[in-house]
Amino acid sequence: MDTRIVTAARVAGIEPFHVMEVQTAARALEAAGRTVVHMEIGEPDFPTPAPVLAAAQAALAGGRIYYTSALGLPELREAIARHYAERFGVPVAPERVIVTAGSSAGLLLVMALLVDRDQQILLSDPGYPCNRHFVRVLEGEPVGVPVGPLTNYQLSADLIEAAWSTRTRGVLIASPSNPTGTQVPPDELRRIAATCARLGLRLIVDEIYLGLTYDGPPQTALAIAGEHADDIFVVSSFSKYFNMTGWRLGWVIAPERHVRDLEKLAQNLYICPPTVSQRAALACFLPGTLALLEERRRAFGERRDFLVPALRELGFGIPVRPSGGFFVYADSSRFAADSQAFCRDLLQATGVAITPGLDFGRHRAEAHVRFAYTIEMAKLEDGVSRLRDYLRDR
Ligand SMILES: Cc1ncc(COP(=O)(O)O)c(C=O)c1O
Repeated sequence: MDTRIVTAARVAGIEPFHVMEVQTAARALEAAGRTVVHMEIGEPDFPTPAPVLAAAQAALAGGRIYYTSALGLPELREAIARHYAERFGVPVAPERVIVTAGSSAGLLLVMALLVDRDQQILLSDPGYPCNRHFVRVLEGEPVGVPVGPLTNYQLSADLIEAAWSTRTRGVLIASPSNPTGTQVPPDELRRIAATCARLGLRLIVDEIYLGLTYDGPPQTALAIAGEHADDIFVVSSFSKYFNMTGWRLGWVIAPERHVRDLEKLAQNLYICPPTVSQRAALACFLPGTLALLEERRRAFGERRDFLVPALRELGFGIPVRPSGGFFVYADSSRFAADSQAFCRDLLQATGVAITPGLDFGRHRAEAHVRFAYTIEMAKLEDGVSRLRDYLRDR
């Protein structure tokens, strides 16, 4: 009998998160009695808001935790649509809203809708690492386009024009971005939408961090893209702004003509998003919950205002001030040629955990690190002070 276990070739192309290596090493230090300043963690430190927990408890007490429609509970789709009108001033038909199992499932559904074998999706490098793997598992080709400070670490209409080919199906943008916290300026986003329409490319905008912006009111691509707004895909989530990472709930605003196909994909891939989470999420849009979330957003903004100048003063390169999310992507090349070794050594020497650029792509990854400000101010201050001592001694 042949006992070899054969696995699909695509698995070999999927890379692990290097930040997990940092987290494992950080936990080992903690187990040995050291205190660690966790600036590697990509989720809010704030707990799920109490009204959301209460709604979940009420749903559980009712006991009727059945499958919902693959598109999500109608009342939640309506609540999300209303949120766009109230928060972003843009009308969205509830029929366009598809509730998903985290934005991760939303991104996978959209990629499954668009990508055939060997077809390309343009992505920014650096960018959120799972995106290239979503494309890869579908036998498509993720094309990382190097981006830097000149374009806010984002794709631009010119970069798309230079990078597309007849095999390109779409363009994925995250604004604000993980790892850079930077946004695509509205004028540029308008140009990108027009360029994609002209070249026959589909535009997907990941707005998972849109609620967490600090320099003016958030603007969704749906409000910016003008005549192209009905043709773009917007992906978002309850994970970050709403502090619900573990509930696995997000959504997609899709062009109406694609909703039925996305529904079929969701039905087959995971049946429906989690029912308890959906009932809980209805409480996200209560005025009291939104007021609490705004307070937390302001706290994130204060952390950003502390951390960015503090890191610059230490000598990290941050040419574009991050305006959203909770990350700072910093040039560490002044201190080390290899940012992965730098992160490893920093953790062992000081107990400060940060993420190497390698997690986010290839382009100048060895020259960058990512700091997350998902810890309270006193801990951030402690982290910066440990960094200062470490860099002084080098
Ligand atoms: C840019 C970006 N998109 C999507 C996700 C996926 O988040 P979730 O599936 O929790 O909505 C993340 C998670 O960190 C992210 O940073």
